[in-house]
Amino acid sequence: MTEQRDWYDTPLYYDIIFDADTSKEGAFLEDVFARHGPGGRSRQLLEPACGSGRLVLEMARRGWKASGFDGSPRMLEFARNRLKNAGMKARLWEDWMQSFELPKPQLFDLAHCLVSSFKYLQSERDAAACLRRVASCLKPGGLFVLGVHLTDYTRAAEEHERWKAERDGIRVVCNTHTWAADPQTRLEKLRTRLRITHAGRTHTQETNWQFRTYNAAQMRALLRKVPALQLVECYDFTYDIHEPRRLDDSYADIVLVLRKDTD
Ligand SMILES: C[S@@+](CC[C@H](N)C(=O)[O-])C[C@H]1O[C@@H](n2cnc3c(N)ncnc32)[C@H](O)[C@@H]1O
Repeated sequence: MTEQRDWYDTPLYYDIIFDADTSKEGAFLEDVFARHGPGGRSRQLLEPACGSGRLVLEMARRGWKASGFDGSPRMLEFARNRLKNAGMKARLWEDWMQSFELPKPQLFDLAHCLVSSFKYLQSERDAAACLRRVASCLKPGGLFVLGVHLTDYTRAAEEHERWKAERDGIRVVCNTHTWAADPQTRLEKLRTRLRITHAGRTHTQETNWQFRTYNAAQMRALLRKVPALQLVECYDFTYDIHEPRRLDDSYADIVLVLRKDTD
């Protein structure tokens, strides 16, 4: 039997399946900061939609003063526990990307939001609001690194991805189906099935959701609405600082490096 469940209600399984690239992403964020950031020794970091805290911990271990927020209390609880268990500190709070408020006034050197979390914002208004809020809490020259999967509206077929991971004897197999995006509503439907084998028992849980979609032109149009953030470079999900990309439709998995204006 397949249980219907929001997979962010089971942070451990999310964390197991998403952990493989964590150290690569951490190293990439530092490379991006070294190449495009404002210089100086300050290391104040913000992660909107920080989830299970895998990157909060990774960056804290790399010497960053990390802050993060998320809309899911369960993900946050998991993040807090993992930081405590690792003996590390970070400021974490519950909040929404489109309307977040900092617990205390602060300016950051670097903010990031990878693995398409930004696409949970289902309207242009919310997406622009998020960008404006991030811009308002970056130092001049500070960076927002935003990773999104772009959409090819000519693709009619369903896409399927499958990968698996294991930790402490818990095996998780993730199957994700993405249906063709609707160019009118700019929404795409996704279904994620996790098959979990834990303590000798196997069960399957399923989450159905939708993402807002962007092609390169739609992403450029959004960025034009927030001139305080300027696109300085693009990369892709291989996280290779030596392989910049263009923001066009030739490549789906894009990482945008946005810099806060210095005026
Ligand atoms: C794919 S996870 C990414 C978590 C983390 N950034 C990472 O890289 O592992 C997406 C996260 O976005 C959160 N989320 C979704 N919509 C949100 C919103 N509007 N505001 C804040 N968090 C949101 C979910 O609760 C989930 O923890």
